Amino acid sequence: MLKKYFLKIVLAAFCVGCLSCGQGFQETQNPRLVIAIDATFVPMSFLNDQGELDGFEVDLIKEVVKNAGFDYELVNVEWGGLFGGLITEKFDLVISSITILEERKNRMAFSIPYLQSGVAVLVRKDIENVDSLEQLAEIKATVGAQINTTSYYFLQKYEGMKIKTYEKFGHAVIDMANKGNDGVVGDSVQVNYYFNENKELTQNARFLGSRMTSENYGIVLRKENLELKQKIDTSLKGLLKNGTVQKLHGKWNLGDFSVVPMPE
Ligand code: ARG
Repeated sequence: MLKKYFLKIVLAAFCVGCLSCGQGFQETQNPRLVIAIDATFVPMSFLNDQGELDGFEVDLIKEVVKNAGFDYELVNVEWGGLFGGLITEKFDLVISSITILEERKNRMAFSIPYLQSGVAVLVRKDIENVDSLEQLAEIKATVGAQINTTSYYFLQKYEGMKIKTYEKFGHAVIDMANKGNDGVVGDSVQVNYYFNENKELTQNARFLGSRMTSENYGIVLRKENLELKQKIDTSLKGLLKNGTVQKLHGKWNLGDFSVVPMPE
């Protein structure tokens, strides 16, 4: 009697187990990638009115991974946590307007470029008679940039310049509006966006020159993930060639400050 009862339980447990296996199997037909993205970089990636991740890079990465045959989960991670989290395997991919740099390549791998961009500079209008970064350095101006970005590295080249760093680029712009700094350097797409779309913060600022550097953005992966890199590159190359990336560039109005590259 007891034995029969026991057998029934075992059988029931087995069936429940099978059911859940079956469901799990259906849900994850494709391997799943966790993708980290910093949602403070309008119009590249930001939280929309519904609180969802949105923007050029959000659209782009969804296309790239779907086209490469993956399911995905997007997680919002701040700039300072992106590289560490990738290396410690909290996520598999990062996309966040990250410039492909030789020093970064020592620690991480990059996809082929999906956008050519660079840094651009805004200065306060009341900082007069200054038309170059050299002149800004001469007057020992205080210029803001997001920490550990190419804008920050760019400013370090000008001796005399006082660099004020921020966790988020938007904070540098707010500080400029409050006269906490004399100007800001940022990725041209962001600078352009703030200048055109956020007059409240930039009405008392002007562009200093045009795009100052030429940089390529890439999707970032762990160095050892060679197979994944190949799949991502192949997928991205297809989307660059068939005009999908160019269409997204138009949809998000990225302007003349950034160019979609054409792969060989
Ligand atoms: N392109 C610059 C860099 O790679 C800035 C990137 C900042 N991105 C961000 N999502 N906050 O250094």
